[in-house]
Amino acid sequence: MPPVTGPGAAEEIDRLRREIREHDRRYYVLDAPTVSDAEYDRLMRRLEALETANPALRTPDSPTQRVGGAPSERFARVVHHQPMLSLSNVFSAEELAEFDERIRKLLGKDEIDYVCEPKLDGLAIELVYERGRFVQGSTRGDGEVGEDVTPNLRTLRSLPLRLQAPGSDGPLREIPERLEVRGEVVMLKREFAKLNARREQEGEPVFANPRNAAAGSLRQLDSKVTASRPLDLFLYETGEASVPFETHWDKLRALRQLGLRVSSRCRRCRGLGAVRAYVEELAAARDGEPFELDGVVVKVDSEDERRRLGRVAKAPRWAVAYKLPPEEETTLVLEIGVNVGRTGALTPVAKLRPVRVGGVTVSNASLHNEGELRRKDVRVGDTVRVRRAGDVIPEIAGVVLERRPSGAEPYVFPNRCPVCGSHAEKAEGEAVARCVGLACPAKLERAIQHFGSRRAMDIHGLGEALVAQLVGQRLVRGPADLYTLRRDQLLGLERMAEKSADNLLEAIDGSRGTTLARFLNALGIPGVGETTALLLSRAFGDVRALAAAGEEELLRVRDVGPELARSIRAFFDEPQNQSQLERLLEAGVRPAPEAAVAGGAFEGKTLVLTGSLPSMTRDEAKAEIERQGGRVAGSVSRKTDFVVAGDEAGSKLEKARALGVAILDEAAFLARLGGKA
Ligand code: IVH
Repeated sequence: MPPVTGPGAAEEIDRLRREIREHDRRYYVLDAPTVSDAEYDRLMRRLEALETANPALRTPDSPTQRVGGAPSERFARVVHHQPMLSLSNVFSAEELAEFDERIRKLLGKDEIDYVCEPKLDGLAIELVYERGRFVQGSTRGDGEVGEDVTPNLRTLRSLPLRLQAPGSDGPLREIPERLEVRGEVVMLKREFAKLNARREQEGEPVFANPRNAAAGSLRQLDSKVTASRPLDLFLYETGEASVPFETHWDKLRALRQLGLRVSSRCRRCRGLGAVRAYVEELAAARDGEPFELDGVVVKVDSEDERRRLGRVAKAPRWAVAYKLPPEEETTLVLEIGVNVGRTGALTPVAKLRPVRVGGVTVSNASLHNEGELRRKDVRVGDTVRVRRAGDVIPEIAGVVLERRPSGAEPYVFPNRCPVCGSHAEKAEGEAVARCVGLACPAKLERAIQHFGSRRAMDIHGLGEALVAQLVGQRLVRGPADLYTLRRDQLLGLERMAEKSADNLLEAIDGSRGTTLARFLNALGIPGVGETTALLLSRAFGDVRALAAAGEEELLRVRDVGPELARSIRAFFDEPQNQSQLERLLEAGVRPAPEAAVAGGAFEGKTLVLTGSLPSMTRDEAKAEIERQGGRVAGSVSRKTDFVVAGDEAGSKLEKARALGVAILDEAAFLARLGGKA
């Protein structure tokens, strides 16, 4: 290695800086690094050594200067050359249409060109570049005056300390003399979770959400703290700029040309229809996005039109934020209770003051198990943060401790089943306590509900309230009793009209001819869900054969391991279960093996198989499709109804995508077989 001082030092420093900047750009802007972290660190250490030996050559824009500076006394004030405006919000498609109509009227045009962008939930900042060098960065503040957080921003790896010379792909030919850019400092959801986990372990207060974490991390007096936090940056606007842009789209392209990071989700949308489609797309993609987003920003593309539209008070007329429903809200815990599941699992649930989260009203949230309840220390009277992401069951993200009423007591988890009073036991290595009561009515209720559910015996009208009554009145002590229910018994129940009694009896009767797979699922054998039920039904074809099978025989079935084999055996060895099974069969329940089913899942359909399916061979899949009335073809065309894509699916999958043919992965394929098998 060359010495750290001497004639070559300046040159080597220069080369290293360029190299590191390029790696930063590849890593943070392009998301495509070409060196390992270790290699990167090595370059960085070498540069540091050179700079320490040659202090005169150390410059503020060196990559080494990212890693924290001296703690500042407080933030200096920065007056923004152009005010940083806020956005007015709309919350529905109608309000969005009104915005569009207003603009069309004001501009006297039929259709407006917009640019749509994700509204990232972070902290708004402004960066100033002079002759390509990052010279100042500030928070939005009140819009007129912000805080100088330059040293902290320097620590962000996705912030280029120097702009890159623009290539040919974009409106710019050279680096602008002076450029103010605006954007959002954000934290990846994943990094946010990690940061909070670490803080919790170290006994430090956790951040409420990624936005707070980002803001808290940037507005630090000690930039070393900022440097230690995983912050990211996206740019979406310019302030004062020495070059004019004709359109917003050009502006975004220019920012990219300079090596600044712009969300790849930004899109030009002509007219309201395209904007709506974008909103829908983004709303659907939201959960899978690495960053928290709270809406879509819709901006008029033409800069000239923007000038004509001007602004009202603190918001421009030319843009609007379409807010997606919040995924987190706060509400009050009214009560904490314990639910008893089908397997006896005791689940603590919090009854909440109803609140709208992610587009639905939430009034209950599961706390999963005793440990989780204790960890979160949720108490009656607490204000809690409720989160809901996509279809996920709402959960309590945490307690707002500042709002805990004095006198709130920790919840004491019961050691008995709240329904039957039996002992609650926690098996070795299990997080949940289970009620051991053999005759626990709560367990029976859940078991009957499951038995009649849509994907099991599919008995319409057998709802929660009715099951509770049937069990409560001891009309049903096991699933077999459903088949001996009489009309007069049903009519004696609350809110049971003649019509619904007849409908229910008919539905129960209809379920006698179900499939074996559904029947096995309905029995609720621990560990046997829909998929396993289908595999077992294929392997045995008859419930008595399955009930008689030894563990070894069971182990020969694909996907059945020792634990599951034991569980199946134990289920059929239980005398209560044997008698239920016999009574079900006596009552005329005739679960039919799959081959006998008319109107199969793929009746008249053409399927193409590609890639390897994790749980069955190609021949097995083909046989199954044919049994379900389908045909297997060798190549994808417009006539193909489904492509079943396994692992390492290749060109057939691509072709299916191109032609818009429906694609099933193995889970979806099995689900269809299970639904109709
Ligand atoms: S444009 C006048 N674009 O939303 C234009 N803002 O409610 C104002 N934000 O302070 C900014 N994503 O913190 C713009 N793609 C985006 C944005 C965005 C998030 C934030 C920004 C701003 C706030 C306004």
